[in-house]
Amino acid sequence: MSARADIAAGAPDWAAVRTDFPVLEREVHGKPLVYLDSANTGQKPRAVIDTVDAFFRRHNANVSRAVHTLGTEATEAYEGARAKLARFVNVRPDDLVLTSGTTMAINLVAYSWALPRLGPGDVVLVTHMEHHANIVPWQLVAQRTGATVRALEVTDSGELDLDAARAALTPEVKLFAFTHVSNVLGTVNPVRALCREAARRGIVTLVDGSQALPHRQVDIAALGCDFYAFTGHKMCGPTGTGALWARREHLEAMPPFFGGGEMIREVAFEQTVFNDPPHKFEAGTPNIAGHIGLGAAVDYLSGLGMDHVEAREAELRAHAVEALDGIDGLRVLGRAPEAAAVISFLVEGAHAHDLATLLDLEGVAVRSGHHCAHPLMKRFGVAATCRMSLAFYNTHAEIERFAAAVHKVRGLLA
Ligand SMILES: Cc1ncc(COP(=O)(O)O)c(C=O)c1O
Repeated sequence: MSARADIAAGAPDWAAVRTDFPVLEREVHGKPLVYLDSANTGQKPRAVIDTVDAFFRRHNANVSRAVHTLGTEATEAYEGARAKLARFVNVRPDDLVLTSGTTMAINLVAYSWALPRLGPGDVVLVTHMEHHANIVPWQLVAQRTGATVRALEVTDSGELDLDAARAALTPEVKLFAFTHVSNVLGTVNPVRALCREAARRGIVTLVDGSQALPHRQVDIAALGCDFYAFTGHKMCGPTGTGALWARREHLEAMPPFFGGGEMIREVAFEQTVFNDPPHKFEAGTPNIAGHIGLGAAVDYLSGLGMDHVEAREAELRAHAVEALDGIDGLRVLGRAPEAAAVISFLVEGAHAHDLATLLDLEGVAVRSGHHCAHPLMKRFGVAATCRMSLAFYNTHAEIERFAAAVHKVRGLLA
């Protein structure tokens, strides 16, 4: 049996899995909802909804402060969620800073790691396929330090070229920050090879894992990066959750970004002593219920098996690409051989927003616009695209409905 057949053999019953997501039973404009915007935010299974609900109904208290029963339960559940998340990505819980998402995680690195280290002449290398969350924080730091932000080109097929990356990793580059998976093209970047090239030159790496974790098994420890940032709401968890993983030496050396309660060991006007990482970076009351919900999301995804999720989404993606390729005047952006279930497309003569608005009337939810990736839009010479993004809970029948809706809408707009 091939590896793929082997995986398919033990796969979950996807029709049953879909019923775990209450929102997918909805109708929109009198039609069954076809939700194709999971790259924007993922839907939540009942296990996550119930966990958050149970926390507020039975256990609600602040963490790491009170010795009473509810306080202890809340702390155990919150730290338990950190431990689950750490196991999911194969790192130590103590090296995982819980954040409100990727944006906060990257900003934490920008202000705590980069700001004190960068100076005139230094370069932060990013790529043309970054989300604004992995561009703007570096520009803000560059403005204050005199450093420069440079961007690695993307090929016509929507990939990063390893030789171009080698050439761009010059001695002035102090940090190479790039995405694991493109939120516009779906391209899966060769993270290990890129990190190896950077490490050989003594360059620190940050990987934006926002669009990787929802779709595949990620073993952060095996990637060879210095920082890995991700967000919880795209991987079945609540909004306002996520994490930054960093090598211990960086966490030890970095000063705190926010000051306040819980990030200290002792406060005196003469001198304040900070807590150990990761708590040193977690000032104030965190998103307790959200992260406990994210712990439930990780349990849920682990129960499905990320290999099964990846195989299921690869099948759905192949179907979607085939369906889109059959539509006249439609152009798919990027053709990387290794891609996650995100597809951007344009229809000749139709504005992406008009297309998305008319698709919504058919019950089909896709995103339109620049997808927080202006430089990538510019690279491909477009102002906006429509983006359909899949998750394991989508069905082949939904892809047929989507393709039929695009056909119909294209006729209306032509
Ligand atoms: C690749 C990528 N990076 C960063 C982000 C920002 O994530 P968040 O808004 O959850 O912080 C997103 C969200 O769309 C993304 O797709």
